[in-house]
Amino acid sequence: MAIEARLRVRRYDPESGGEPYYQEYETSVPEWGTVLDALIQIREEQDGTLTLRCSCRSAICGSCAMKVNGESALACKTKLVDIAPDGETVTVEPMGNQPIVRDLVVDMQPFWDKVRAVQPYLQPDGPPESGREYLAPNDAMQHLSGVMNCIMCGACVSECTVLEVDDKFLGPAALAKAYRFAADPRDDKTQERLVDLFDMDGGMWDCTHCFECVQVCPKGVEPMERIVKLREMAMDAGLEDHNGVRHSKTFADSVEHSGWLNESQLAVGSFKLTNVKDQLGNMPVALRMLMSGKMPNPIHRPIPSVREVRRVFDETERQHQQQVAESTSQKEA
Ligand code: SF4
Ligand code: SF4
Ligand code: FES
Repeated sequence: MAIEARLRVRRYDPESGGEPYYQEYETSVPEWGTVLDALIQIREEQDGTLTLRCSCRSAICGSCAMKVNGESALACKTKLVDIAPDGETVTVEPMGNQPIVRDLVVDMQPFWDKVRAVQPYLQPDGPPESGREYLAPNDAMQHLSGVMNCIMCGACVSECTVLEVDDKFLGPAALAKAYRFAADPRDDKTQERLVDLFDMDGGMWDCTHCFECVQVCPKGVEPMERIVKLREMAMDAGLEDHNGVRHSKTFADSVEHSGWLNESQLAVGSFKLTNVKDQLGNMPVALRMLMSGKMPNPIHRPIPSVREVRRVFDETERQHQQQVAESTSQKEA
């Protein structure tokens, strides 16, 4: 059975000097048809100027990522019957946070530059002592299987809320890739990788945990979780002098101590206020908060069930130490 597809496609040709506009198309596709099937049909039968990128049509190559009804997705994985069961109009736009080449095609060069910047390849100090191939134990690789599913589609980058305001941020895909190699037991440059990403402007501390990349990734890579893991690895490796570390520790200490966040301590604990000048530098912010009624209450009492919260912390710490010991022994093996 065929279904009717109505697409509203954003058209734009930067070289023409014209403005972007939306063009509506109608076509019919098989019941199992995807947004990509409809776009290809339109291009082949109605409008040869419609520009898009695709290859495998099977959610493997990562080339057809675009915004469908405002959210980045693989067009070849998005069935029309799922998003427009009654023939509703579907809006199709190019990915965000990347320059538009034409219509639905974006320039992936900045994406690849950032992936290359994290050195996405193993860097062993030399061949294994056996002189034969390095055989990684299953247990040491299983936790990497999710991140290795990345098909470099760029959907996460398209939705990243930090990249919208700061194009220096490495972004979710590159940082997930960095984790993939830093956590690989065959790599001998873990410490150097962590130091680079720890200190770098736009590195591991610039993610704001908005979850967008986790939500849109078509392969379940969960880039934000990998960024959190990179931070844990950096702290376990003894890297501490960063506002991000101070922020995390102040946050956790507050919740462990009282069961909830002490906001008045968070700002103070997050910044390295080592001298009077630094401390005075925060006064204008404090004054603005006071005047707009946003100053947190300085009296902070523990919640009645704080002991349960502390038990959660104890158990989490125990499991974390166990994981650290296991991954250290895998690296040394
Ligand atoms: S969670 Fe972090 S990396 Fe992911 S989209 Fe949000 S800000 Fe970007
Ligand atoms: S992490 Fe997911 S969304 Fe991002 S590039 Fe890889 S597969 Fe695509
Ligand atoms: S065409 Fe390859 S992932 Fe969609």
